[in-house]
Amino acid sequence: MSALVRSPSARNNSFMDFFRYRDRTLHCEDVPIALLAERYGTPLYVYSQATLLHHLQQIQSAFAAVEPIICYSIKTNANLHIARLMAKHGAGFDVTSGGELYRALQAGGTGPNIVFAGVGKTDAELNYGLETGVFLFNVESEGELLALGEVARRLGKIAPVALRVNPDLPPKTHHKTDTSVKGVKFGLDIDTVLEFAGKVVDHPAVRIVGLHMHLGSPILSVEPYRQGVEKGLALIEKLRAQGHKIAYLNMGGGWGIHYRKQEALPASAFAQVIVPGVKKANCKLVLEPGRFIVGNAGLLVSRVIYVKDSGGKHFVIQDAAMNDLIRPTLYDSFHRIWPVAPAAGFAAPPEDYEADIAGAVRCDVVGPVCESGDYLAKERRLPPLERGDLLATFSAGAYGMAMASNYNSRLRAAEVMVDGSQHRLIRRRETYEDLVRPEVEV
Ligand code: LLP
Repeated sequence: MSALVRSPSARNNSFMDFFRYRDRTLHCEDVPIALLAERYGTPLYVYSQATLLHHLQQIQSAFAAVEPIICYSIKTNANLHIARLMAKHGAGFDVTSGGELYRALQAGGTGPNIVFAGVGKTDAELNYGLETGVFLFNVESEGELLALGEVARRLGKIAPVALRVNPDLPPKTHHKTDTSVKGVKFGLDIDTVLEFAGKVVDHPAVRIVGLHMHLGSPILSVEPYRQGVEKGLALIEKLRAQGHKIAYLNMGGGWGIHYRKQEALPASAFAQVIVPGVKKANCKLVLEPGRFIVGNAGLLVSRVIYVKDSGGKHFVIQDAAMNDLIRPTLYDSFHRIWPVAPAAGFAAPPEDYEADIAGAVRCDVVGPVCESGDYLAKERRLPPLERGDLLATFSAGAYGMAMASNYNSRLRAAEVMVDGSQHRLIRRRETYEDLVRPEVEV
């Protein structure tokens, strides 16, 4: 049976997806996590291929009526093997730097299915995008449009552009990742975008063919998309009246996932508010999902090094740190954490961490990095843990490894892909030599 048609056995689209406790042991698809930890070491990112494809397919089917161009947002998880899987199953790419464009091409992306976003593209990056033939540059400022025009003129090309507009919506997510409120650096101001667009209708090297917005991330309601589409439709009408041949509406990414409970909306809910607008606008829809596809498809496995009590607190010190998963430190994000093999009396992680968990111990789950801000969870109730126990931090597939660093000269983790009963390394653990290589080579 192909992975594409498999669907999680219990609740469809549950936060556990293809990660399951069987006989009180966590499995990724058919492989025990403990086996992977023994084989590849910890900290370790483990991905479920069936989950990745299941989520991609949910978007593909929810939006099938308008045959969207789905551009996987490669910043979310840039591992080549994951990106290749996306390309193989029909996704293009949303890239945000020259490096991401390079990765997308390495993964099998081609110009006609790549959109190039980013508020600060350099001339070199614009050049690279034009030479690659990316099908849309999401342009965020007047200066960028002029620079793009200049680079395109030098290359004898015409640059296809979607104007990224900031639709000025109410706050909807963490302030560090809300991109459509007034006063953030992203997009063209909705109040002045038309004035600007009117001046570049006849630009010889730039063609404005689309409208783009990315509202923020993660978003747990369809309301911002409803409002965004409405504002987008009004703008498209006016841009067309100016003489721009608008053919694309790009609604970005941003859909939330189940981090804490079953809080995320299905792709079909977003389709319900986006599809009618796209039909009305008579545009091709572009989407840039990232987290929705890969977020719940990955977890971070770590091993408890020590437990200790200090200052009235119980600390679980394990071998994953803020350099491996910075989201809790940076955004106060909540990630489910649970032992890979919970003690007798404890089953799978609770659906409600607020509720009483009999026998649980309140603890801070921290890493070895030299900062008090280095933690994966604070005041979290977990089954009692001991040195050597394995922990799983869930929903870590998105912006986990992608934001990992070598801080404290820690080696970045290995990554493993599971497909049914098969598993393979998709990124080896770094070595001490890797740490110094760029300095030794100068
Ligand atoms: N398109 C654009 C233009 C974006 O800036 C982003 C994300 C996406 C698409 C993909 O959004 P997604 O579908 O993954 O929500 N590091 C933060 C999230 C930063 C999001 C950056 N932009 C986090 O860990 O929550």
